[in-house]
Formats: sequence, C-alpha cells, structure tokens
Amino acid sequence: MSQSSVSFLKPKAKNPATSPELDDALRATIAVKRARTLELLHAAVDEFGSAGEVTFANSFGAEDMVLTDLILSEKLPIEIFSLDTGRLPAETYTLIGEVEQRYDTRLKIYFPDATKVEQYVRTEGINAFYNSVELRKACCGIRKVEPLRRALAGKRAWITGLRAEQSATRTELAVREFDEGNKLEKFNPLADWTEQQVWAYIRIFDVPFNALHDQFYPSIGCAPCTRAIAIGEDVRAGRWWWENPESKECGLHVKQ
Ligand code: ADX
Ligand code: SF4
Repeated sequence: MSQSSVSFLKPKAKNPATSPELDDALRATIAVKRARTLELLHAAVDEFGSAGEVTFANSFGAEDMVLTDLILSEKLPIEIFSLDTGRLPAETYTLIGEVEQRYDTRLKIYFPDATKVEQYVRTEGINAFYNSVELRKACCGIRKVEPLRRALAGKRAWITGLRAEQSATRTELAVREFDEGNKLEKFNPLADWTEQQVWAYIRIFDVPFNALHDQFYPSIGCAPCTRAIAIGEDVRAGRWWWENPESKECGLHVKQ
C-alpha cells in the first residue's frame, strides 16, 4: 500500500466545536436561554395564532435542530416546513428521517416547480450555479425562494434559526423584525445564541443532528454548494465558497 493511500485511510479528526465542555456555567446558560426562547415562541403563537399561522423554516442545520426540539418536545402549535431543493446532501435526508421517527411526526416538505428546474437545467446546465453569481442566484430562486413563497402564503409569522454571529450579512440581526419582502413577521429566536450554546443544547438534550457537522461542515445547504471548512475559518466559509462573502445569501433572507 502506498504512503498516500495509508494517509487517505486514516480516520478524519472530529470537529471539536460539536462537543463543547458542558460545565455548570454553560448548563446554567442553556437553561436560561432555553426558557427565554420558549417564552418568545409562546409569545409568537399568542400574538399570531395557534392554528398554523406561525411556521418554522427548518433546514435541519444545528440551529434548526434546537428549534425543532423545542417545538416538538414542548408540543408548540407551530408548523414546521422544509424546502427540499433536490440537491441536498444524503446526510440531510437521513436526518429528516431520524427527526420524523424520534418525534413521531411527519414534516411538511416543499419541492421546487419541476418545469422551472427542467428549463433552467436544459438551458444553463446541471451545475450552472458555479458559472456566475447570477446563475447561482437563479438556481436558488427556483429551488428555494419560490418554494419559500408558497410555504409562507397565508401565514402571519415565520421563524428561522438565523444567528447574528453567522456572517457579515447577519451582524444586525434582530430577534424579531418585519419581513418586508414576504410581508409577514419574522422571528429569529436564536439571534444572540453562540455556536457553542447551540451545540451545548444539542448535547444536553441529546438532539439528533446532521452527521456532516462532525466533518467540519458548520453550515449546511445544498451538496454542490457546501464544503467543509478549515479550523479558524468563518462558519459560512463553506457555503458558495467560490463567491465573495457579501454576495453569500440565497434570497431566503433579504433585507429591504
Ligand atoms: S441560507 O439562506 O444561507 O441557506 P442558512 O443555511 O444559514 O440559510 O439557514 C438560515 C435559516 O434559513 C435556517 O435556520 C432556516 O430557518 C432557513 N432555511 C435555510 N435553508 C432552508 C431550507 N432548505 N428549508 C427551510 N428553511 C431553510
Ligand atoms: Fe442551487 Fe446551490 Fe442554491 Fe442549492 S444552494 S439552490 S444547488 S445554487
């Protein structure tokens, strides 16, 4: 066996960020943050309705697993939906199945308009998103933004797992804001959570998570547009990594 194949076969190091040291101070912080986040979710339901008017956009990333656990374990009357772009990593589908089993539920999954995907792929090519920011945004438009519009139709408020710390485009993030683009209230209950707190919650409550997180994928989107990051790199460095950080939003979260 050659030297290079030996090193290829070595087990990969596990991402230390997914297993923070759970000391008493961190456990106490999580207890407080959990209670506050729960209060916020209850307040959203009280204000906007408990019959499906409030909906949670779930990408099954680590942050969204915290919210999934809160909503499903506390049986909050909040709908949960996810946008299946058709290009998600296999690990995400595995996690969706695990969530349905663990919480004994069926999740609402939206798909892109098949005709629009066919047209785009026939005209531009199967992986055209690598060719320009415009073509990348067009793909996100078809596979994410248009299905999001359908998912939010008739809703009064939506919930996301966005965090301020995640990127240059999210530093001003508020816990609550009016989403001008989609014309409904938007709650970002984890806006001030740190990555360490997200993982502490997941470990304390033994919440299922995407296996890619342990392989240095802190932020997970579509498979062809997400890569692992190096230690010290920005948590969203692996998303659309060939683009400039200022353009790295897919259109789901637009500031007007
Ligand atoms: S993205 O806009 O760059 O893709 P990111 O992956 O950071 O967003 O996720 C931020 C939030 O957007 C998630 O916490 C979730 O609320 C929502 N979101 C992102 N992707 C999806 C998806 N495929 N389905 C549902 N919600 C999503
Ligand atoms: Fe298309 Fe990539 Fe956007 Fe997914 S993230 S919708 S594959 S451009």
